[in-house]
Amino acid sequence: MSEMQSIQWFPGHMTKTKRQIQASLKLIDAVAEIIDARIPVSSRNPDLNKLIQNKPRVILLNKSDMANQTATKKWIEYFKNQDITAIAVDCKSGRGINQFVPAVNRVLSKKITALKEKGMINPTLRIMIVGIPNVGKSSFINRIAKQNRAKAEDRPGVTRGNQWYTIAKNLEMLDTPGVLWPKFDDKTVGEHLAFTGAVKDRILDIELLAVRLLDFLKKLKPKDFIARYKLEESDVENSESYDLLKLIGKKRGMLVSGGEINTERAAIMLLDEFRSAKLGKITLEMP
Ligand code: G4P
Repeated sequence: MSEMQSIQWFPGHMTKTKRQIQASLKLIDAVAEIIDARIPVSSRNPDLNKLIQNKPRVILLNKSDMANQTATKKWIEYFKNQDITAIAVDCKSGRGINQFVPAVNRVLSKKITALKEKGMINPTLRIMIVGIPNVGKSSFINRIAKQNRAKAEDRPGVTRGNQWYTIAKNLEMLDTPGVLWPKFDDKTVGEHLAFTGAVKDRILDIELLAVRLLDFLKKLKPKDFIARYKLEESDVENSESYDLLKLIGKKRGMLVSGGEINTERAAIMLLDEFRSAKLGKITLEMP
């Protein structure tokens, strides 16, 4: 997957992004890191810790509508044990979004107290959103902004070029998110990003990717997956993943002239249906 990394995130690109985030960090008091609830490891950028130093942070496990609920609860617990506040959200329906402001206030409570002790009466604090591409940053910002129409762009003292949404009393959010680069060091990370659609298909071998996804589904045997393609459990257990892909193609009537199975079409469909959670609410990574 190192080829993929070089296509999407060459070093110059990363340096520029890093610099932009560092500049924004000077303006804010806390960071909201959006990750994908289905892949909480692969959708994080491990360099973020170094980048944000010890700024307070909230983690948003987004796309929780497509993740396994028990797994998401375990992840929230896992982060809690590390003293990190994490909440599950779904920007498609808006579920969980109302936990956001209270969570931010919680992580900022020390700072608010300190500022008040210094004599500031109602200090306004600011946050920014960060996350890898496709994780739902714009969806989240749009939702929060819609709920809080009053934009603060005309207020004096606001840096030109930055716009802020007032999202609660004394709380503002930067309108542009920090885009983090995904880390492909590990083959599994690259694959998980590809399964969930975080990286573009056109630079990947789609059939190989589908076979790798089937390797995973064979172990997990999600009920929705088996039912959707009218498979037998024994097919799933005993077939090689490529044969399973062929079987799925056959069941869906994806044939080319001569009666051969169009495995490319089957692969595209499988990935597509996985990405839209039609094969079940599946979390690929556990704490
Ligand atoms: P980004 O700014 O971080 O790059 O991500 P963006 O908000 O553009 O979201 C990427 C895709 O993920 C979008 O789908 C968006 O609708 C979807 N998405 C975001 N949050 C959630 C969520 O909580 N649940 C689900 N199921 N999907 C979510 P898209 O297909 O690219 O666009 P669209 O067809 O929805 O417009």
